[in-house]
Order: sequence, then structure tokens, then C-alpha cells
Amino acid sequence: MTDAHAARSGVGVVVVAAGSGSRLGASLPKAFVPLAGRPMLAWALETVAALPGLRSLVVVVPEALADPSLPPWSAVSLPVGAHVVAGGAERTESVAAGLAALDPGCDVVLVHDAARCLTPVAVFERVVAAVRAGADGVVPGLAVVDTVKTVDADGVVTGTPERTTLRAVQTPQGFPREVLLAAHASGMVATDDAALVERTGHRVVVVDGDPMGFKVTTPEDLERAERLAGGPRALGGGSPGATSGRSAGLTSSP
Ligand code: CTP
Ligand code: MG
Repeated sequence: MTDAHAARSGVGVVVVAAGSGSRLGASLPKAFVPLAGRPMLAWALETVAALPGLRSLVVVVPEALADPSLPPWSAVSLPVGAHVVAGGAERTESVAAGLAALDPGCDVVLVHDAARCLTPVAVFERVVAAVRAGADGVVPGLAVVDTVKTVDADGVVTGTPERTTLRAVQTPQGFPREVLLAAHASGMVATDDAALVERTGHRVVVVDGDPMGFKVTTPEDLERAERLAGGPRALGGGSPGATSGRSAGLTSSP
């Protein structure tokens, strides 16, 4: 690697945690709701901090919680050098706010949902490796077990996609920084970042996701996460990143 390349390499991670969690229905924004005694955001950040090559981390939260000295942050350890910014009304806006605050020296950018708080660090590593191997976009995905139907507004079935061609996708989703910035500059809105990149004509690939990468959406999901957080995974030290070396902060911060 040349010195010039080294100066422009490193992984940037945007953790989006600015949603209200209306389907969870808790009294706090979802990312600050406790899971086994610590906010979901704390679990997610602990994993991100264990990612090798992490250069920049931006955490996007509701505007009212954008000051990390506020009480809901007390059980969240923010990695040294991380930035906290306010998000927007739509997830796409929150991602854009995070991207604007990332160190421009990152060559690879990952976007991760704080609500997928138990995603193992190995998934992050697979996504980074696939971006570095040349993909324009990388999403972790799992085979779909149910047969899926498309329907019209009246609930009439319009089709049955071949199940072997379907994947349920998760985060972190990874991209070369320039590709993701260009996709967001298009002004389109989507429920994930890969959709924006797909629409700008780029090739997005799927790598193996992980069942632990499920999104906490409903109270039932939170109960499931509680059971898993206290389960066998906790034997490795109680954190999703416990099997890969820990990092106290970022490799280089702006
Ligand atoms: N998110 C965000 N900004 C928004 C909406 C969502 O940063 N305006 C984040 C959430 O914090 C979450 C992720 O995007 O980590 C996935 O969104 P979702 O699971 O839908 O969370 P919420 O929007 O908070 O939940 P709900 O849709 O039930 O209100
Ligand atoms: Mg939502």
C-alpha cells in the first residue's frame, strides 16, 4: 500500500439510532431502551469499537439526545473520537447527517442500524472485506424461509417470487465512500442504503448475514434479544465483539 493510499484508507461507520421506535412503544427512543441492563445503542457501539481498521464513527440520534452528557447516555460508552449528530424524520435523512460528519479519509463506509444491536463483529468484517474486494455495495443477507407473495392495494396476490432468489437483508451495509455519497446526493429516499446505490446503477452483492443480526422492532423482538443477550454468547464476555480483539478508540480521528 502506498503512503497516499494509506492516508485515505480506513473504515467509517455510521450508526443510525435516531428513530423513535413507535412499534416498540417504549417511553425512550428505541436505541436508548435497555437490553439486559444496557441501552441497545451501547451493545451496538461495543461491537463497532471492536472492528479492525475503524477510523471514524458517527452516531446519529434524535435531536433531543444529541448531547452525550444527557442522562440516557450514562450507560453508553462512546468510543474515543466518535461524533454524535442529530438525525432527521426519515432514516435516509439520518444516514445523510451521519455521512456529512464522517472523516473524509475513510475509503469504506458502513451504515448500521442500532436496532440490530446483537449483530456479531464478524458480519462487519465480511462486509468490509467484500467492499475492499471491489463491490460497489455489500449487504448481509439470509435465505428466506417463508414463501413470499406480492400483493396489490386490495390484498390480491399478484405474484410468487421464486424463493431461492430472495434474501432478507440486514445491516451493516457497506460501500466505497464515494459511491454512497453519490447515491445520497441523488435525493432519493429508501428503507435501506443499498436500494439507493442499486438505483444509481451500481452492483450490490450479498454476503452471509447472521441470525443475531435481526432488528429489534416490536416488544417480542426485545424479549428475544433479552434471552439471547443472556445466553451462550454472553459466555464469551457478554458482548457481540468479544471474540475479536477490542479497541479503545478509533485508529485515527479527525
Ligand atoms: N432511524 C433513524 N432515523 C429515523 C428513522 C430510523 O436513525 N428517522 C434508525 C433507527 O434508530 C433504527 C434504524 O434506523 O436503528 C431502523 O429503523 P426502525 O427499526 O424502523 O426504527 P424506528 O424508526 O425507530 O422504529 P419505528 O419504525 O417502529 O418507529
Ligand atoms: Mg422506522
